[in-house]
Amino acid sequence: MLRELEKILKFLIRMLFIWILLVWLLNLISKRVTSEVEESRKTIKKFLNAKKGELIFTKNTTESINLVANSLGFQKGEIVVSSDREHNSNLLPWQILEKKKGIKRRIVDEKQDHSFDLDDFNEKVKGARLVSVVHTSNLDGYTLPVKDIIKIAHENDALVLLDGAQSTPHKEINLKKLDADFFAFSGHKMLGPTGVGGLYGKKELLEKLEPFIVGGDTVTETTYDKQEFADVPHRFEAGLQHYAGIIGLGEAVKYLMRLGLKNIEKHEIKLQRFIVDNLNNEKIERIGFKGETGIFNFNIRKMSPHNVAMILDETENIMIRSGAHCVHSWFNKYNLQGSARASLYLYNNKEDCEKFIKGVNNIIKLG
Ligand SMILES: Cc1ncc(COP(=O)(O)O)c(C=O)c1O
Repeated sequence: MLRELEKILKFLIRMLFIWILLVWLLNLISKRVTSEVEESRKTIKKFLNAKKGELIFTKNTTESINLVANSLGFQKGEIVVSSDREHNSNLLPWQILEKKKGIKRRIVDEKQDHSFDLDDFNEKVKGARLVSVVHTSNLDGYTLPVKDIIKIAHENDALVLLDGAQSTPHKEINLKKLDADFFAFSGHKMLGPTGVGGLYGKKELLEKLEPFIVGGDTVTETTYDKQEFADVPHRFEAGLQHYAGIIGLGEAVKYLMRLGLKNIEKHEIKLQRFIVDNLNNEKIERIGFKGETGIFNFNIRKMSPHNVAMILDETENIMIRSGAHCVHSWFNKYNLQGSARASLYLYNNKEDCEKFIKGVNNIIKLG
């Protein structure tokens, strides 16, 4: 009997020891996760030149733009100005607010060469509350003159939100120099994991925003009737977060910083120039702005861009995007069905471009 009791006691002591060890380990892991998430935030703030309390983790650019749209407390009649080449993620949130809240939208028409028309903007920004424009367009890689846009907007007492989905991976961003009020970006465009992105906001502005998605981790205290919100940025990061993604994004950003964004931009432009110089064919129509960017957007006369993409994939193992690239409104404006778009990044080289040129020339011969 006594031996049985001794056995049970030993078993219980062992279980207690394992339990204490597990709790200690979990505590250690959770502290490590918290510290790595904050380390990643620090890295990304350095990358964008943002200060403490100015970077919120979100799912992506789309969520960041929706956060601003839903948290600024728009009133009927307030005006939002955008360009005529916004990705659907920077078009729909404002269309919905127009319907739900009665905001007014103004769209700046681009110039004939597809560059941003600052004169038209100068007129349309008058009386606006917010200017929400794409920084670098996913259509043709064109970068809007955001320094001028921000200066003019601020002279007119309007805030500026930049859709940085395509600028963050390809150019050096200095948000303090730019003086942007809000800036949205996505991790998966810049070698990071999917499902994680961010919203930069000037601290004094973020502190005035109403949280859009609320719940666990956004408060320090609640009663049945009231709540006390946590400090910025935590009041905007509701529920369990994509910790692995956030930490992964921090590592991707460190890698990009090591390579240098200026070098990446130069590399893409060099490759694009090589394509432009060697694809000089009258059957090719370039789409959008025809400057030095990391994108070659085109159509081959009389051929569907989807067929062009499919043939390039099958013959040269080159993947490009075809269609309206989520900028349907712009394609509709010009009565275009879509286009084929080759996007260059740091992992591409001259050999890729040669294959692309060969593939396109063969498609032209087919047509
Ligand atoms: C210019 C631009 N804005 C916004 C988005 C939306 O990004 P996400 O799907 O990561 O939210 C994209 C995605 O392609 C984009 O190119």
